[in-house]
Amino acid sequence: MNQTVLITGATGAIGSATARSLARQGCQLILLARNQEKLEEVKGQIRQETPAAEVKTLVVDFAELHAVKNAALNIQKDHPELHAVIHNAAIFKSSRTLTSDGLETMFTVNHLAPFMLTKVLFETIQQTRGSRILTVTAPSTTQINFQDPMGEQRFNALNAFGATKMANLLFAFKLGRAGLTSHALHPGLVRSELLREANPFLQIVTFLASGSPEKVAQAFSEVTLQPKYAQSNGQFWHLTKPIQAPAYARDPRNQDELWDLSLKWINTLEARRR
Ligand SMILES: NC(=O)c1ccc[n+]([C@@H]2O[C@H](COP(=O)([O-])OP(=O)(O)OC[C@H]3O[C@@H](n4cnc5c(N)ncnc54)[C@H](OP(=O)(O)O)[C@@H]3O)[C@@H](O)[C@H]2O)c1
Repeated sequence: MNQTVLITGATGAIGSATARSLARQGCQLILLARNQEKLEEVKGQIRQETPAAEVKTLVVDFAELHAVKNAALNIQKDHPELHAVIHNAAIFKSSRTLTSDGLETMFTVNHLAPFMLTKVLFETIQQTRGSRILTVTAPSTTQINFQDPMGEQRFNALNAFGATKMANLLFAFKLGRAGLTSHALHPGLVRSELLREANPFLQIVTFLASGSPEKVAQAFSEVTLQPKYAQSNGQFWHLTKPIQAPAYARDPRNQDELWDLSLKWINTLEARRR
């Protein structure tokens, strides 16, 4: 098979199950996550199941955008081809916290970090035959407050998280218009650590309604590897079933506005570091 696949949030429930599934199918993996120990554990599980698997791990905190950029530059140097990038990392914070750059954490980890990663790797992905970008999100209907995207004036944790999942949809569809093959993926409810900071009631309700990550991993592997998903573009899939994204996410004006704003933030941060 010999496909190179980059997965972010590879230590999480969905990310690690998808990594194991893709390794079984012969992919060369680049796994990104913030915790070295957990990454080693995932790598160990993969090697146990698939001893010949080629697995590279990179420790990157997505709250640190300069670190994301450096990781992307290293990947670009070492990998002339990237057949798929799975933007899967995400975090839920119960209160408003800031990164070392002074940006709201959820918006940075869930949206700006994949934006930065893709910006650096754009040409590598574009030049790889049959490549695709897959952004893991949810059917969020929360609109982006473009006047206050970092929640400086008003902050509600669930709303802010929902806005990042909308940002994932807008980003995925914009990429499809910008010259890459790009899809948004909805896993359905899955047992994971994602809502560890949410109130206990929400945690119990979602836990009871959630399924195992293995089924998701199988579906995501199919979308990652089957040629038919490189022949279509800009779609939203619940596992392997096409679903309709909210009208707001499909509106090119919203996609463009978020794109321009993200670029502005990233350029401003880079200018500050020079
Ligand atoms: N679970 C669901 O029901 C559900 C439903 C719809 C959509 N989704 C989406 O599915 C994706 C995967 O979520 P999951 O449920 O598998 O959650 P999870 O188990 O919490 O996995 C999230 C991953 O993101 C990583 N991450 C968090 N903050 C990070 C940071 N600052 N830097 C780098 N990596 C960071 C986590 O690392 P650590 O292991 O170190 O925390 C973990 O590897 C997310 O995009 C989520 O929005 C999930």
